[in-house]
Amino acid sequence: MNAEHIERSASGKIILCGEHSVVYGRPAIAVPVSTMRAYARIDPAPTGSGLQIHALDLQQKLTLKDAGNEHPLALGTRLVLEHLMATEPDAILTLRSDLPIASGLGSGASVAAAAARALGAALGTELSPDVISQIAYEVEKIHHGNPSGIDNTVIAWEKPVYFVRGTAPETFSIHTPFKLLIADSGIASSTRAAVAEVRGRWEAAPGYYNVVFNCIGAISKAAREAVEQGAIQTLGTLMNENHELLVKMGVSLPQLDNLTQAARRAGALGAKMTGSGHGGNIIALVEDTTTAAVKAALSSAGAPHIWETIVGQPDG
Ligand code: PMV
Repeated sequence: MNAEHIERSASGKIILCGEHSVVYGRPAIAVPVSTMRAYARIDPAPTGSGLQIHALDLQQKLTLKDAGNEHPLALGTRLVLEHLMATEPDAILTLRSDLPIASGLGSGASVAAAAARALGAALGTELSPDVISQIAYEVEKIHHGNPSGIDNTVIAWEKPVYFVRGTAPETFSIHTPFKLLIADSGIASSTRAAVAEVRGRWEAAPGYYNVVFNCIGAISKAAREAVEQGAIQTLGTLMNENHELLVKMGVSLPQLDNLTQAARRAGALGAKMTGSGHGGNIIALVEDTTTAAVKAALSSAGAPHIWETIVGQPDG
């Protein structure tokens, strides 16, 4: 165990296209949000004190020896120790995050990735994106049940990802950086509940939902091409179409629809909900000339928080 303190972080994420249908094997694309992050810090502690975990945002303190594997932070920590064949260090692991919880921006996977990176580094190893992704996936299972794997993948690689469940993730490049506004509906959402609800509907009417999933899969493919070619107008249109299909799937809410409409009316090139829905955030694709008007419209439409991020900047 290193005598100095160690700090590592992990980004948040946005699903640009393909949430829910990605659970059923259709492609989805996701991008990191490098400006909104989770942070983990490890400080040495007196000999014999074991590993203590302080989750500042949750106002939780736990000791590893007393926490079961149903606790996401305890499970993530044990997986790192197992992977490195290391014994529990005497240390304090402190976690904090810029990311709102339960709102589709990847908070759970990001905290898990930051914690794993910091603990690995404190034990002398920078864990690879593959290992970070696998550990965050196991932790995501506690939050979500049966996640597709897109969140842990984009966060572990911190690169745009074209993701098809069960195949090796493909990272890809962004031709021209573009600006997104992320607007919070102020409504917390449960990914587990939304995913279970879609499954129930799909089981009841597989023909209809398979068509919806296929259409969204085609949108994700086209959106990847648009992003690779810098065709930002096209990306906006595809985001709008994806939102309408999520409405058909039954995972949007009037509040999310209002926010997307307000953004489009104020000049956004496209807008959609992002993540599992029933709350959480929407994203709006904006240009510099429309940013202020779209922000004002989102605020008037009731968004309590609005963040701005540039996708595709080397550091942004
Ligand atoms: O964790 P969220 O809210 O971003 O949702 C993840 C995306 C889903 O497609 C709804 C679920 C999954 O496992 O891919």
